[in-house]
Amino acid sequence: MRVFVSRPLPAPAMERLARSFDVTTGPADRATTADELLAGAREADALVSMLSDRIDRAFLEACPRLRVVANYAVGVNNIDLAAAAARGVWATNTPGVLTDATADLAFGLLLSVARRIPESERFLREGRFDGWAPLLFLGADVASATLGIVGLGRIGQAVARRARAFGMEVVYSGHRRKPEEQEQGARFVSHDELVATSDFVSLHCPLTPETRHLFDARAFGRMKRGAILVNTARGPVVDEAALVEALQSGHLGGAGLDVFEDEPKVHPGLLALPNVVLTPHTGSATRGTRLRMAEMVCEDVERVLAGQAPKFPVNQPVR
Ligand code: DGY
Repeated sequence: MRVFVSRPLPAPAMERLARSFDVTTGPADRATTADELLAGAREADALVSMLSDRIDRAFLEACPRLRVVANYAVGVNNIDLAAAAARGVWATNTPGVLTDATADLAFGLLLSVARRIPESERFLREGRFDGWAPLLFLGADVASATLGIVGLGRIGQAVARRARAFGMEVVYSGHRRKPEEQEQGARFVSHDELVATSDFVSLHCPLTPETRHLFDARAFGRMKRGAILVNTARGPVVDEAALVEALQSGHLGGAGLDVFEDEPKVHPGLLALPNVVLTPHTGSATRGTRLRMAEMVCEDVERVLAGQAPKFPVNQPVR
């Protein structure tokens, strides 16, 4: 059986797959192009895809042997799940194992923007620090500030736990109130209330037609003056041009972004702003997390190619 792995996974996973399958991979040092993905997957029985790979109906039709698309990510907005199901192709993801890593990065971005850590570090490295000063790099208070979490799923809950430990008030929005044991002391509010009352907003919702540009010019206009936005979810949840305007006008106090509307491109306005901290989609990038994600992907490829259902399905093939 043939497996195409869009970008090489950690070595133990590549070795594991190679023990049972004929494995080929895309490039290690750059993104796989759409043509390379198609060439690799066309004759494959299984595809290990990255979140940057677009797996749509036309792609699936061009890969008739595929039985599983195992996405090396928890987010699956890059896959047309219904089209895969209609063609009898399982789609899988890696839930649970990247919760803490992503929550750590979200909270790290929150603190970095609030306390202006990258900005003040640059200042020091440039040799401009000439002694303690009462007004040097004043930042936003974190303890007792209100954090609004959009989407209290696993990662949102992990961020809420961190925020509570830092003395923050936490509110959250979503489709419905969570059972109390999952709320982590956070209070359920409407989306509008969250937007209007939070000092910090951290995004943890999936990208769906409903959440695309959930944070647009109107939402930014309703946020508190000086509020800080953190996005470790998916770039298109935010209208990046509107965010740049809200930051440039001084209405928003800053932003911490790990994801971008048109990755890997980053809006030039964001690059020019000192109160924005940017990381290259590294939410799950710890050694242990990426290994665990790789094990899950291997397990589901093995299961499906052995004729079993996967352990982490995100669709239900109809034939
Ligand atoms: C995911 O798995 O969806 C994350 O975005 C990876 O960092």
